[in-house]
Amino acid sequence: MKDKLIVSLDLIDMSQIQALVEKLNERVLYYKIGAIPFTCFGPEIVAYLNQQGKKVMLDLKYHDIPNVVARACEGAIQMGADLITVHASGGFSMLEESVKAVLTGSGYENAGKPRLLGITVLTSIDEAYFSDLFGNIKRTLAEQVVFLAQLARSAGLDGVVASPREIVPIRQCCGDDFLIVTPGIRPAESGIAQDDQARTMTPKEAIQAGADYIVIGRPIVKAADPVAATEAILKEMEHGYRETT
Ligand code: C5P
Repeated sequence: MKDKLIVSLDLIDMSQIQALVEKLNERVLYYKIGAIPFTCFGPEIVAYLNQQGKKVMLDLKYHDIPNVVARACEGAIQMGADLITVHASGGFSMLEESVKAVLTGSGYENAGKPRLLGITVLTSIDEAYFSDLFGNIKRTLAEQVVFLAQLARSAGLDGVVASPREIVPIRQCCGDDFLIVTPGIRPAESGIAQDDQARTMTPKEAIQAGADYIVIGRPIVKAADPVAATEAILKEMEHGYRETT
């Protein structure tokens, strides 16, 4: 299950990050670097994780004109990212240019081609907020996620980031080989805060629904005992996997 868990390092203290990575050791292979650690530490944090033998999901959620996003993807490849995120709502040309940049990019010959993921609708957004934000869209939130997933697939992306609640409809329209990465995960154990997440599922439910990777931040990085929290989450994932195979 450790190949399916991505721990989100949303921390502002490098020594805390290093201590956590050392503590979690072999239990975790993938780490997510988003706006918080990247703003604080830049490419050095990616280099540090690669040196530790870890894979990096560089979650900078690019959303700009096609040329800017495509060149940023080239930079992400040079940096050593394994998974790169762009906003699917940036549109077909932006997505297509990004795919071309990844396919023709260099610098990953020894590590395998990085995979490009489209962000659909943030997992902190619920149905009510979605209709406030996009009042003139005729689609429901779930229909919008599926629409963006189809757009991402038609542009050649490897997969999407979506809530675990939308895994089933995305699978139906995009197939089994399309990656689905799901944040918005909260362990079943009592006392776990929902935080700002709205469309959540437990690790077990997300694996049962068919997530390729689950992304978890605060339930691990803010836990009193991150090793115990990680082991409990891996166990929940394992149960979900066993019950579906
Ligand atoms: O701490 P928590 O488990 O809520 O962290 C979830 C992580 O997943 C955050 O780093 C957030 O940026 C990210 N994310 C998300 N929803 C998305 C895309 C990414 O929560 N749709």
